[in-house]
Amino acid sequence: MTLTPVLSSYWDEPRSWSLDTYERHDGYRGLRTALDMTPDAVIDTVKASGLRGRGGAGFPTGTKWSFIPQDPPDAERPGKPHYLVVNADESEPGTCKDMPLMLATPHALVEGVVIAAYAIRAHHAFIYVRGEVVPVLRRLQHAVAEAYAAGYLGRNILGSGYDLDVVVHAGAGAYICGEETALLDSLEGRRGQPRLRPPFPAVAGLYASPTVVNNVESIASVPPILAHGPDWFRSMGGEKSPGFTLYSLSGHVTRPGQYEAPLGISLRELLDYAGGIRAGHELKFWTPGGSSTPIFTEEHLDVPLDYEGVAQAGSMLGTKALQIFDETTCVVRAVLRWTQFYAHESCGKCTPCREGTYWLVQVMERMEAGEGTPADLETLLDIADGIAGKSFCALGDAAASPIISSLRYFRGEYLAHFDSGGCPFDPALSALTS
Ligand code: NAI
Ligand code: SF4
Repeated sequence: MTLTPVLSSYWDEPRSWSLDTYERHDGYRGLRTALDMTPDAVIDTVKASGLRGRGGAGFPTGTKWSFIPQDPPDAERPGKPHYLVVNADESEPGTCKDMPLMLATPHALVEGVVIAAYAIRAHHAFIYVRGEVVPVLRRLQHAVAEAYAAGYLGRNILGSGYDLDVVVHAGAGAYICGEETALLDSLEGRRGQPRLRPPFPAVAGLYASPTVVNNVESIASVPPILAHGPDWFRSMGGEKSPGFTLYSLSGHVTRPGQYEAPLGISLRELLDYAGGIRAGHELKFWTPGGSSTPIFTEEHLDVPLDYEGVAQAGSMLGTKALQIFDETTCVVRAVLRWTQFYAHESCGKCTPCREGTYWLVQVMERMEAGEGTPADLETLLDIADGIAGKSFCALGDAAASPIISSLRYFRGEYLAHFDSGGCPFDPALSALTS
């Protein structure tokens, strides 16, 4: 498959982030098309495109929009406005697509926001950004100000009679605030912790009103769909996973970065574009969609990277964050590092995750130091089993997943830590034992 740069087509152009540049590249054409249509027709177009949520779960975007009550909110539900919330809190380990997108072409997101808000009949939209990433925050604020000044936001947008206000909100840096209901709590000014679903945000979201929560890449993919049509979008990718998407390659690869390609491309093909594994080394293991997804090995190089292909091979496409590790990496140390992350970021609301992730770290640290016993492997699996599927939100499942999958493929490497009395990849230990 060949690369299909759409969202990333001019990221390296000087001032790619400015309104002038965006307009020069046909920017806001999709919005003009949308405003000539009814909101329902816009939803039907996005449904027809088959666009699926790029935040990780792959839920069909147009279907999500159609869950919002179709009647005008002011007449039917006074006091129940509709809201659009963009989840720009990207923080899944290895995931680095939304931040470059917002830095390089923030207007792609702003235009998508106006189209999506129009489709769901919202007059207020929020972009919830990770607060630590100040350059992204500034760039978005600048783009929103430019869009207001040019008549793409505010009252009577492009003479259509449609009004929309957009607020760029800085989060405070908690991974759990990327979970959509925790994000909504945080946006309302409370401590960010997941809410019970259902009701899903489409029914009772921000301020208990119908709310669509979409990922940055999902929303930024909408303007080209409106501008070029759903058939054009469907001409890329597969039947159930159509379109182009951003794959983030990081780690032991010659040219790490964003590679925009049709859904269904394989890691082998992506590695051809990225210059392969770094010189003199070979692939050991990788994640198809960030650390929350079960790891893959060399045997999965040809798995089609779409929702169905990755699931059939035993993992999840997730955020399409391909973290590549070569043979110099200790899998136990890598998994320990992820587990420490999940334990640190556990919000503490439910016992399996709050206590379980802490226990996992204790056992993993002992193991990595070569101080455990082989029985610890069963303890690890037992704790992971007590977390996966029994926690309140997806963070618990995510914490269990690298442990379970790494033990499936690399049990011998875990055992080697006991045999060597430490990490076999530790240079000091290698020198002693060789
Ligand atoms: P989910 O499958 O529960 O929901 C996906 C979306 O569909 C949500 O917006 C939800 O409201 C909506 N939805 C699902 N069923 C619905 C229904 N019956 N009615 C109305 N709306 C419905 O997935 P979840 O828990 O929201 O997200 C998990 C994913 O997040 C994981 O796959 C992971 O890859 C990803 N993730 C991404 C991160 C990032 O930095 N981008 C960080 C951590 C996880
Ligand atoms: Fe909080 Fe973890 Fe429970 Fe999610 S699974 S609600 S992050 S404690």
